[in-house]
Parts: sequence; structure tokens; C-alpha cells
Amino acid sequence: MNVMTSPAARAPVVQGPATRRTFAIISHPDAGKTTLTEKLLLAGGAINMAGAVKARGENRRARSDWMEIEQSRGISVTSSVMTFEREGITFNLLDTPGHSDFSEDTYRTLTAVDSAIMVVDAAKGIEAQTLKLFEICRLRDIPIITFVNKVDREGKNPFELLDEIESTLALSVAPMVWPVGMGSDFAGCFDLASGDFLHSKARAHGPFDTVTPTNGVLDAKLDGLVPEHVVGHFRDEAQLATEGYAAFDAEAYRQGHLTPVVFGSALRDFSVDQLLKIVAAHAPSPRPQPSDKGEVEPTSKAVSAFVFKVQANMDPNHRDRVAFVRFCSGHFKRGMKLNHVRSGKALAINNPIYFFAQERALTEEAFAGDVIGIPNHGTLRVGDTLTEGESFRFTGLPSFAPEVMRRVRLADTMRVKQLRQALEDLAEEGLVQVFRPIFGSNWIVGVVGPLQLDVLASRIRGEYKTEISFESVPYTTARWISAPDEKTLQTFIEANTMQVARDRDERPVFLPKDSWELNYARKHFPSVEFAETRELV
Ligand code: G4P
Repeated sequence: MNVMTSPAARAPVVQGPATRRTFAIISHPDAGKTTLTEKLLLAGGAINMAGAVKARGENRRARSDWMEIEQSRGISVTSSVMTFEREGITFNLLDTPGHSDFSEDTYRTLTAVDSAIMVVDAAKGIEAQTLKLFEICRLRDIPIITFVNKVDREGKNPFELLDEIESTLALSVAPMVWPVGMGSDFAGCFDLASGDFLHSKARAHGPFDTVTPTNGVLDAKLDGLVPEHVVGHFRDEAQLATEGYAAFDAEAYRQGHLTPVVFGSALRDFSVDQLLKIVAAHAPSPRPQPSDKGEVEPTSKAVSAFVFKVQANMDPNHRDRVAFVRFCSGHFKRGMKLNHVRSGKALAINNPIYFFAQERALTEEAFAGDVIGIPNHGTLRVGDTLTEGESFRFTGLPSFAPEVMRRVRLADTMRVKQLRQALEDLAEEGLVQVFRPIFGSNWIVGVVGPLQLDVLASRIRGEYKTEISFESVPYTTARWISAPDEKTLQTFIEANTMQVARDRDERPVFLPKDSWELNYARKHFPSVEFAETRELV
């Protein structure tokens, strides 16, 4: 279904950055991120049935404009960002890739959000991928709201879960919504602040559909709604929870010292509304963004934005792509000419797209915190800054040292041009890092997780009609090299010609066989810097 929504539908009651909540959901696969995303869209009115897009007024012009672009350029974009509004707040929910390989794409997406929701499976607690993503959030001072999912199933005891979050993540926890029984005893959830009891008319197995306001956990109303053995236990737990943990402190949350914890069930809709309310009330609005000329305030008048993701066209007959841009300041209007800082050229943004659930439409405007897509022919790269004329650059989007290196072998050597194009395109998208040894002619690719290699081969086959295979190489990683002076750098390169390559921006990279060799090089060339990440651009 392809229902276009009116750009006017996104005009919030109050405009400006204070009304924006730009966030991501982080979790280990299977914890329930997809289900929760869908339920948040549902709660936000972006869809009216799971999976169905609700048309909130239709603007035919926007629809036909978009369809023309889509047809003439063959763009197909998956929902990397989902925008929806509720009660004057615009929510921009950024999707992070679901697979368990740590991906650069995820990291970059997290540079574009102001807060995150961490989904934890009640039966499993904090899992590996959750922890990794949490660490990235911590590095970037991104505050976290925790949603403990699947309380309708047998799981760990809530106190055990809270203690695990507290000790593993070194964060204070503030329980906000508590489960009333879990697993076979599950009877609903209780909002500790408001006293609302969330339950189902269908009792034990139904979806959330009823709110019963109470005067607190001791309210007798609960006795009629919850089995006796469950309510007694719940009262004891809730009392302990309120007394034993920190009270919610919005400032401590925003500074990343405390995480509010909501127990619920995404599948059965319990506590999703409460979660969204906490995001609306407490999650930070757009924060100042770091640049090489100091922080850029979201309230600054001049428009500024950066590209955090590029998605290549899925249609092999076209080479267009969509750059995902996060605005950091100003009031952007469709048709504006922005300065593309890397090239110094003016770029007219005539077809900015915003994403509404699974659909998209042209947007007329954007504020700090908003994320739009800009179709382009490869001008825009990850890390690029757009401004209204100024020449600063946003910083902090790193490219990582790959952990898996392979040499690319072509099945048909006549297709070398297609391979080059494919590697350039997919490197631009951030799927892979590409290195060209200064000696030798085969490309070497580097990825952070091995799954990326499968994706790479299958996309090159599908989109560029080129078969490739991978050969192992003796290198285990790559380090970007630099030195205070050109001569030192040249001496290093000459001493290591067989192990130096250039990245796609012609920057020299050292390919060590192992950490011993890396340390050896460090010792012998103390003034050479071996960087594990490099800032993009
Ligand atoms: P992910 O995106 O984090 O990988 O997780 P996803 O939402 O796909 O959920 C993973 C599984 O957990 C799904 O079951 C989903 O239905 C289930 N799930 C999510 N939230 C809840 C919840 O609150 N309670 C219960 N009991 N289950 C939940 P599946 O069997 O893998 O898929 P499906 O056949 O249900 O689609």
C-alpha cells in the first residue's frame, strides 16, 4: 500500500527544535525491537493497524511529485527513519540495522540521535549486542530509557533485572512501570507515578485495552481485578521498588547517570504508551552538535545539517542514492540552496523526503532534530556537512578499523569496471571499506563483521551483475597512518611497501599481520600515528 500523506500533516502545533525527539531503539536481536517500533508508531498514530499505514489527509501534489521522482529515478528506500507526531511533539525514530554484526551503520545512526530506548528481554537480561550499543551511547552521552520487554512470559525476577542493569551498565535505575505478575501470573502493568493499572478485559492472555486509575498499590480496586496471590506479591514488590531505588530524576537521566525503567510487553501493547509519554516529557530535544569550529546550537538561525547514512539505489538500472541528513539548526525550507562544505558548491534541495511509517512524501520544511532523505547522484557522502553558507564541519562520525580483511577475486576479469563502481558505491554507503594496495592490483575489502561480506557479495551479484569471491589475506586489520612531517611518513611507507594501501580517499593505511607487527611498527616509528578510526571527510 502506498498512501501518501500531506506534508502539512507534519506541521506540529508548536514548531522548532524544542518539539523534536530524535531517538533510536537499541537491542539484541529478538528482544522485540521490531514489535516495539510498530507499537510506537501505532501509539503515535502513524499507523492504525499493525503494518497498515494510516492516511492522515492526502495531498495529491505531494504524491504525484514523489511518484515522478520515484519513477524517473527508480528510488526505493526502506524505512531508515520513521517520523510521527503526537500532542505537538514530532518523534523521529531512527532505525538501526537488526543483525548481530556490529556495524558502522549503527554507530553512525547513533550520532544522529539525541536519546535511545534500550529494549531488554525479561528472560535474558542484558545481552552482548545491547551492551555494545549501550557503550556507544555512553561514549556519545546519549541518555537511555530502558524497556524490559516480554513480561507476559516467564522471565527473570524484576529486581534481578534491575540489579543487572545497574551493575552491568553502571547506571542508577528508576522503575517507572512495574509488572503485576509475570509469565503465567501476568495480570497487567502498574504505572508507579500515576497509579494507573494497565490491564486487559480478556484478563491473563489478552492485549492491553483498559486503564483503571487507582489511588496507589493498596487501592482495593486491584483486588477485584487481579488474582489474590498475584496482587499481594505485587504490592510487596512495588513497595520495595519505590523505596529501594532512586526516584526518577530528569536531570540525572539526561546526563546519562540514570535510566528510567519501564516493564511491559510490546507484543501485547502493555506500557508502550507510558514509554512514549516518557520520551515526550523527558527525552532531550536536539542537543548542540560538535563541529570543528565549536558546538552548533539547535536554536542558531542558520540552517546546518550532516549526512549520517547513504543508501544506494536498490534498482540496478539507476545509480541514484538517498542521503539521510540530520538537521542541527535553523529552519530549512524546501528549495533552499545549502552549502556543501566538502566541495564548496551550492546544492539546491528541491526534493527533500520525509518518512512517515513505511511511506514517504516531499517535505516543505525541517527543524533541528529532523531527519530527511535527499536523493542525489553521489554528491552527498556520509560525514558531509550542509550549511546556509558557513564553512564549518560537523565532527564525530568515525570510520572504524575493520576486523575482517579479504582480497576480492573477480569470476570474470572483463567486469573490472563494474567491480570498481560497485566497491566505490558500497564503500560510500558504508557497507565496506575498500583498500587498494600500493603494490598489486586486487582490491582488499575490510568489514567490521563477517556477515557484511555475504551482503557485499550478494549485492554486487544482484545490483552489478558481477560474481566475486573472497580470498584470505595475511592482514588482520588496518590502521590509518599519519606523521608530523611528510618525510617520516614516506620513510615508513617505503619500509613497508608490501603492507601499505590507500583508502578510497587516497589516505595511506598500514595493514599489519597481527598485533605484534603493529607494536613493532609503533616502536620503530614512534612519531607515526596508527589510527584505529578516522573521522570521515
Ligand atoms: P527484534 O526486532 O528485536 O529482533 O525482535 P522482534 O520484534 O522481531 O521480536 C522477536 C520475537 O519476540 C517475535 O516472536 C515477537 O513476536 C516476540 N515478542 C516481541 N515482544 C514480545 C512480548 O512482549 N511478549 C512476547 N511473548 N513475545 C514478544 P517470533 O516468534 O520470533 O516471531 P513472530 O512469529 O511472533 O512474528
